[in-house]
Amino acid sequence: MYPAYMEESIRKVEATRERRLKETFPRITDKEKAVLLQKFHPDFVTEGMRELLVGPNKGEPTPNEMADVLEGNSRIDPDKINLDKVDYEVDVLVIGCGGAGASAALLAQENGANVLLITKLRLGDANTVGAQAGTQAADRANDSPAIHYLDTMGGGRFTNVPELVEALVKDAPSVIKWLETLGVNWDKDPDGSMHELSGGGASRLRLHSARDYTGLEEMRVLRDEVRNRCIDYLEFSPIVELVMDDKGQVAGAMLVNLETNELNLVKAKAVIMATGGAGRLHIQNFPTTNHYGATADGLVIAYRVGAELIFMDTMQYHPTGAAYPVQILGQLVTEKVRTLGGQLVNAEGEQFIMPLEPRDVVASANIRECKERGRGIVTSTGEVGVWLDSPMIDIMRSGGTIARELPAMVRQFSRFNIDITKEPMLVYPTLHYQNGGIKINPDGATTIPGLFAAGECEGGVHGQNRLIGNSTLDIFVFGRRAGRAAAQYAKEARLGTLTLDHVRRWQKELREAGLAELRPVSPMLLPNYARQPQDYLTDYAKQTLTAGQIKMA
Ligand code: FUM
Repeated sequence: MYPAYMEESIRKVEATRERRLKETFPRITDKEKAVLLQKFHPDFVTEGMRELLVGPNKGEPTPNEMADVLEGNSRIDPDKINLDKVDYEVDVLVIGCGGAGASAALLAQENGANVLLITKLRLGDANTVGAQAGTQAADRANDSPAIHYLDTMGGGRFTNVPELVEALVKDAPSVIKWLETLGVNWDKDPDGSMHELSGGGASRLRLHSARDYTGLEEMRVLRDEVRNRCIDYLEFSPIVELVMDDKGQVAGAMLVNLETNELNLVKAKAVIMATGGAGRLHIQNFPTTNHYGATADGLVIAYRVGAELIFMDTMQYHPTGAAYPVQILGQLVTEKVRTLGGQLVNAEGEQFIMPLEPRDVVASANIRECKERGRGIVTSTGEVGVWLDSPMIDIMRSGGTIARELPAMVRQFSRFNIDITKEPMLVYPTLHYQNGGIKINPDGATTIPGLFAAGECEGGVHGQNRLIGNSTLDIFVFGRRAGRAAAQYAKEARLGTLTLDHVRRWQKELREAGLAELRPVSPMLLPNYARQPQDYLTDYAKQTLTAGQIKMA
């Protein structure tokens, strides 16, 4: 139920529905797109960015909030760490357990490696479970990986790394089959064929979904599979630094046990970083769709050992985060709503953008409508948004489509007495995805020997803007590739003497740049409004903690 001041605008939305049924909104031209992005996309807000002052990407721009953590101080003092005391020793250490980490662990094990999986929160607490719309794969007669490739490159403004896109689209059909074999219940048509939809920037129906909780379904089976195959895992144990050897190879990691604050050393011949995204950095104060642990930890740590990052000046703002009610501010309103026929309209009930343009375009158009044209709806808490007219779906298709295809959305809003089958949703862009990340090759190998990366923490696949359904595809394609490659690498790897000299060098670089006093400790681990790890310590742990062993704040 909306307050009276919004109802007036909703009446205007209702009044234009019949006309909008026949209205086709023109596609934006390349020239119009460039102007729109330049003026309204947050990536182009100059004061939101600054050049990195240290590290391998020194001189390159990144959002201020990202620069703060990338230039952060280590949480550990290498002089106080005993590297002879090894707590775990494995072939492959996988860091992070969303879709990428779980896939990597499964494939590494299948390829003969002894694997340990560690995760900051619980197994499966990751952006994967929040993925709603689906996973792209070209597996229909009128489609092909080549068409998927072109769509993906177009969405990324043709800046994507071609060989990564090639890997993505070629592996996609087999990934869908693999997930089905493991137990994913894909939506099917009555004849048993895949029920596939399209999305912004996609020219074919290739989005495979499980209603609007696709990522939850995908993670369900992967989590089970990790357990069924008896892969060892540690929960509440985030990485705080990588460990190297004296030959310049990655040789393991230091973890912190969030329940006791103790540090653990894992020695590993190969490490796969699968730590996910950065939404909880709240770049430019945007709310986010991301889970609690999305604080860019993997990027921070890989950067300190000298791994190159790529596309760090571009983030994805999903066009439709909830703008009302404030309790769900920034939460995802899936693009599937627009895929099915939901239209974006302003306070006057008029469409202002073709709803299935790529996300960077639609997000910028939503911002323009509110900020420049003053045709947004302002809420009592000062948020602003435009209408996503969901009832158009049942009008255009048939009654019951919304309830069948979007049960999670229906429930999310019904908790606040908003019936999205009858009323529109108020939406505004929300920080959703990190387009860039750690530079990899098609096997997930980074620029540092022994370090692999998969999923949202790597970059290059999506260029400057990702398409719907290519992130859940990315996590499986590159998770599997990295798992396989890391297991092979580990067979040949011969580790030398363990060292944390890179942390000493990093701190020296920070001091020489005059940054050591100015920057926070990182990785952040939890957003700064969360209870911090030390808040969870038991009295026993507080008493037994070695003073100065680890900085938690
Ligand atoms: O809109 C969505 O459901 C999000 C999908 C994605 O980011 O791929």
